[in-house]
Amino acid sequence: MSSGGWRNKQVASRGALNHDRVATLTTRSSLLFPGQVAGMAGLSLDPMPPRPRFAVPPSPTVIATLRQVPFFAALPEADLERLASSARQKKFPKNMVIMSQGDENDSPALYVIASGRIKVGISDQEGKEVILSMLGPGQFFGEMSLIDGHPRSANIETTEASEFVVVNKDDFKLFLSQNFDMALAFMREIVRRLREADKKIESLALMDVYGRVARVLLDMAEKTVDGKLVIKRRLTKQDIARMIGASREMVSRVMKDLVEMNHVSFHGTVIVLNENLGASAR
Ligand code: CMP
Repeated sequence: MSSGGWRNKQVASRGALNHDRVATLTTRSSLLFPGQVAGMAGLSLDPMPPRPRFAVPPSPTVIATLRQVPFFAALPEADLERLASSARQKKFPKNMVIMSQGDENDSPALYVIASGRIKVGISDQEGKEVILSMLGPGQFFGEMSLIDGHPRSANIETTEASEFVVVNKDDFKLFLSQNFDMALAFMREIVRRLREADKKIESLALMDVYGRVARVLLDMAEKTVDGKLVIKRRLTKQDIARMIGASREMVSRVMKDLVEMNHVSFHGTVIVLNENLGASAR
């Protein structure tokens, strides 16, 4: 299946998001602590601090995945374990649409990427798409509809076989409402995304195509132990074109020039960025 054509693809979320709740005392989906009453989440009637009550022991993999996310890491260990015990694990193959822009029928939940990679994109009626972001392990999605109840703001598609930890909406809101540190860390993450979106708007509005390509490459790069900036994950010219609103042909031309100017070099599928590339992105 090709990576384009969001709207024609199977929407994996339908049917797949049915909730098999565990570790819950209610008929609805909330996870209650001892001393809490359904519909009164947050009001503790028990003067003793709540103790973990697990229907199933939390999986170490799920705990480790959640801990990678700064706002879950802000939770006390017992709360993190309690949340992990009610989270579910889901696997999807490569090129599977998990959420579709405009969808209002799937059940909101917070998805944390345990392994693999996804792209966040928006598309028009003709299937032309813009990639807003590429996300990998330790990152999350699905929070927008969960928070405001509006339809999905973007499409989410796997670009590699991926595994997710899925936190139910009511559990997420319950823990958020009871942990100020978590709420603050969550806001920090949302603000970070807003800053990234601002940077993207700036580059689209104010930079030429060289600058935009350079900025994408720098954003995607990781530092090796010897201080080199490299992109190890497969990044196609088509992907770059969709991230910066340019044609694939234009990106090919720019990449060729950047190689000739010794700003970047290719070593098999690995792209190495040279120090002078930064100047193109300013
Ligand atoms: P939601 O609207 O529920 O479903 C689509 C998701 O895409 C959205 O939540 C966010 O998690 C994610 N998303 C939307 N816009 C961006 C963006 N600019 N950067 C990163 N993720 C985004």
